[in-house]
Amino acid sequence: MFLHESARTGAVPLAATAAEQTPLSALAPAGAAAAAIAEVWWWMFWGSLVVLLLVCALALHAVLRRGERPLPFGARTLIFGGGIALPLGVITVLLFHGVRSGDAMLPRDVGVEPFRVEITARQWWWEVRYPDVDGAPLYDANELLVPVGRPVDIVLEADDVIHSFWVPRLGGKLDAIPGRTNVLRLTADESGVYRGLCAEFCGAQHARMGFHLLALEPDELERRLGERAAAGLDEDGSGPEAFAQHCGACHSADGRAGEPAAGPNLAAVRQRRHLVAGWLQNESGRLRQWLDEHQTIKPGNRMSDLSHVDPAELDAIAEWLEGR
Ligand code: CUA
Repeated sequence: MFLHESARTGAVPLAATAAEQTPLSALAPAGAAAAAIAEVWWWMFWGSLVVLLLVCALALHAVLRRGERPLPFGARTLIFGGGIALPLGVITVLLFHGVRSGDAMLPRDVGVEPFRVEITARQWWWEVRYPDVDGAPLYDANELLVPVGRPVDIVLEADDVIHSFWVPRLGGKLDAIPGRTNVLRLTADESGVYRGLCAEFCGAQHARMGFHLLALEPDELERRLGERAAAGLDEDGSGPEAFAQHCGACHSADGRAGEPAAGPNLAAVRQRRHLVAGWLQNESGRLRQWLDEHQTIKPGNRMSDLSHVDPAELDAIAEWLEGR
């Protein structure tokens, strides 16, 4: 909320508008995996509080009494009780809960066909692939549409360095590692928008490598995926000449393109709630602003400099992308 307000009044009005009103807290779980993790957190919190109070009490006793009135138990009891039995007990309880919550994130057979989304993490955005939308893969970016109440398998890969996929309200984080495929199982119990982020330092714009996960009712999900699949090129199979010339080397504007590109697929960019990996709210004029100021908004991003391009051509590109 604070970020949201300050962003509106700040010199760069776009910073962190993406914060929206959705909490980014592992202690507000909305799924079984996250609930198990929150439970471990609370066990650790209360357990460490008890240990802290115990240690403070012993320290106070030592200071105030200066050994005049010895503790009711001997040194041997203190060493075995506090040095061996207590840590053993704490670690055993944590191990039990840790294994249980880790298990809740594994893609086990639960008798329900999980919904599958494939993610490739890149510096600094998320490529999203739905392997089967009306019989063919569909490419999107930085926004995941998934069904509410049904297990979702996030199939994670990385293209450059190690990233980590994390939706705090839905589950634990899992690394996306070049050359490996990891699968994270999440279930959203409530429909809504969940914020996600990269949780492994991955370079200059690690902090602006966010995304949103939308948990939708099944018919709404089908409708929206259909809409995104339909958002393709113009009827003659192209876009404006300026898009092909200045953007086409890195971006596809066809969600069915079939091949991953260097930059986010822009076919359904108008339908996304955010631009710039969850960072900017997708409002009218934002895309145009991005074309001019992208190195100010997200310094170091891999997009090439467009300052040599005729502004009228940039207008045409932004207008076309926003209008489809
Ligand atoms: Cu990707 Cu940090």
